[in-house]
Amino acid sequence: MKVLVATEKPFAAVAVNGIREVIEGAGYELELLEKYSDKKEFLAAVATADGLIIRSDKVDSEVLDAARQLKVVVRAGAGYDNVDLASATAHGVCVENTPGQNSNAVAELVFGLAVMAVRNMYDGTSGSELKDKNIGIHAFGQVGRNVARIAKGFGMKVSALDPYCPDEAIVAAGVEPVHSVEELYRNNKIVSLHIPATDETRKSVGFDLITLLPKNGVLVNTARKEVIDEDGLAKALRERPDIKYVADIRPDNADALKEEFGNRVFFTPKKMGAQTSEANINAGIAAARQVVAFLRDGVDKFRVNK
Ligand code: 3PG
Repeated sequence: MKVLVATEKPFAAVAVNGIREVIEGAGYELELLEKYSDKKEFLAAVATADGLIIRSDKVDSEVLDAARQLKVVVRAGAGYDNVDLASATAHGVCVENTPGQNSNAVAELVFGLAVMAVRNMYDGTSGSELKDKNIGIHAFGQVGRNVARIAKGFGMKVSALDPYCPDEAIVAAGVEPVHSVEELYRNNKIVSLHIPATDETRKSVGFDLITLLPKNGVLVNTARKEVIDEDGLAKALRERPDIKYVADIRPDNADALKEEFGNRVFFTPKKMGAQTSEANINAGIAAARQVVAFLRDGVDKFRVNK
């Protein structure tokens, strides 16, 4: 049986070695497809794969049609909006993620971006500190919890909104629960986005919410570009010259935003949140173990499709 690791943005070499050990140690063959630029390469490689490990690589119906032997795909990471779950189910393919494995890496980047924003992108002018400022965490999942932990180290006041997480769990983490999205944006100088991209959240953060931010507010997005209403963001930045937007994801209108708002906006050229050797090792090896557990024993603990 063959396991394909298809990563347009490759894992660190040390993580690939770990994945290889797990896959080959279980007696399976490993095929590595890294930095592919043409989907055709992916389609050809997946045709003979029984298991598939991906990152943000798109697995749509075309890929699933080509993957005639595929039984399981594990997204080494948290968000699985890059996989067509309904099509995977229709093709009899189990889809899993590896929750929590890269969350510290993403959370650390939140502060890399936040410090840069409050120090005016290191342009030489006098900025501000994070200590004693309010940070609002928009969705209290694994990344959000790590953001809370690190924020306390900075001496920040931490609150979080998450309708899917009971207040007791938020309070137990030493964080103040917030019950409306308006309250979250109105009361926090820094808001850090951690909502997944779903039908419910797409374009859900726009002009109305962003302009609620207090003076010199900073919106940090290490989640997904799809959750932002980009026209609303541009309008908010235009109307509120004190606000900044820093993101680990290039928006579709990145060039226009950069041109109009200069260093009040920042985007990483490629998604960098999970791009540490530690996160690659954690998520990559977890994915390899999950593929083996599924192919060998039918274990599907982290399945995300029906
Ligand atoms: C995730 O959902 O786990 C992160 O967005 C990381 O994505 P990546 O593996 O493409 O870096």
